[in-house]
Amino acid sequence: MIRTICVCGAGTMGGGIAQAAAQSGFNTILYDLNTESLRKARLSIDNNLEKAVQHHKLGETARQTALANLFFTDQIADCVADFIIEAILEKPEAKKALFNHLATLNGPETILASNTSSLSVTAIAEGTDRPGRVIGMHFFNPAPVMKLVEVIHTRYTDERTARVTAWLALAMTKTPVNCGDFPGFIVNHVARPYYLEALRILEKGGADIDTVDALMEATGFKMGPFRLMDLIGNDVNYSVSVSVYTALGEPARLKPSPLQRRKVEDNELGRKTGRGFYHYTINPSL
Ligand SMILES: NC(=O)c1ccc[n+]([C@@H]2O[C@H](COP(=O)([O-])OP(=O)(O)OC[C@H]3O[C@@H](n4cnc5c(N)ncnc54)[C@H](O)[C@@H]3O)[C@@H](O)[C@H]2O)c1
Repeated sequence: MIRTICVCGAGTMGGGIAQAAAQSGFNTILYDLNTESLRKARLSIDNNLEKAVQHHKLGETARQTALANLFFTDQIADCVADFIIEAILEKPEAKKALFNHLATLNGPETILASNTSSLSVTAIAEGTDRPGRVIGMHFFNPAPVMKLVEVIHTRYTDERTARVTAWLALAMTKTPVNCGDFPGFIVNHVARPYYLEALRILEKGGADIDTVDALMEATGFKMGPFRLMDLIGNDVNYSVSVSVYTALGEPARLKPSPLQRRKVEDNELGRKTGRGFYHYTINPSL
């Protein structure tokens, strides 16, 4: 029985996943080692729920219940739960170290899910003492809204872990889709050229960002590639490009973009820093 969910990492994804879990009735622990991330996540969840009430998508009682379900902490010792969803930075060593620490705090039944966009879930599982309990649970941004969840099984994932993860995704009103542990899984694998080719056009002076985005949106994409990279975060998008490129044996067509690397070095990460390919007004309370 899953009653308590712990989300580790309170950034763009972790905050949204915690909101979705709390709204679905789970006791939800949101942990981050950075108190500033926790503060921003709390404000962002407050704002999202407030807006949902204003737009008659959520009742006032449901808003209060969701908030009451949430517990924010910067203490890893508080991360004791039936199901843990990791959404920290896209670095395999950091994820493995976190899972190993969590394994010392939780019983053998606790499931450890990674929200990685591109890293090998098998390698993350192999770095723990409980590979059967490790699974990929890849949410999409913004997590409270987007329905798709890629569920990544490894050769170690046991039957209960697979079953409970699919159940949890449905309980969070998401649509789970099973994927193999392939670099970038399905969506990030297929979408890689969408970002990389747009970056190449920009690097070669073929068109400006507004034109590329406007054209792609006019042809039916919900967001142009530059707007989407700013939403995802240039640091996260660049890390995913590097990891897919490396995992596939460095094919020239998937070479990461130096222009995007510079964006990361200059802290132009997108919406989260107020500047990426576009400029954003940051809510002064955030
Ligand atoms: N941004 C997206 O659109 C997106 C979509 C799907 C999946 N993902 C994946 O989700 C994960 C998180 O991405 P994000 O965009 O939320 O990143 P983010 O940079 O917005 O947030 C990461 C958070 O993790 C915290 N953190 C770092 N190390 C930690 C640790 N050891 N323990 C606890 N907290 C730690 C940071 O303080 C930060 O608040 C990554 O694996 C990413 O690939 C991102």
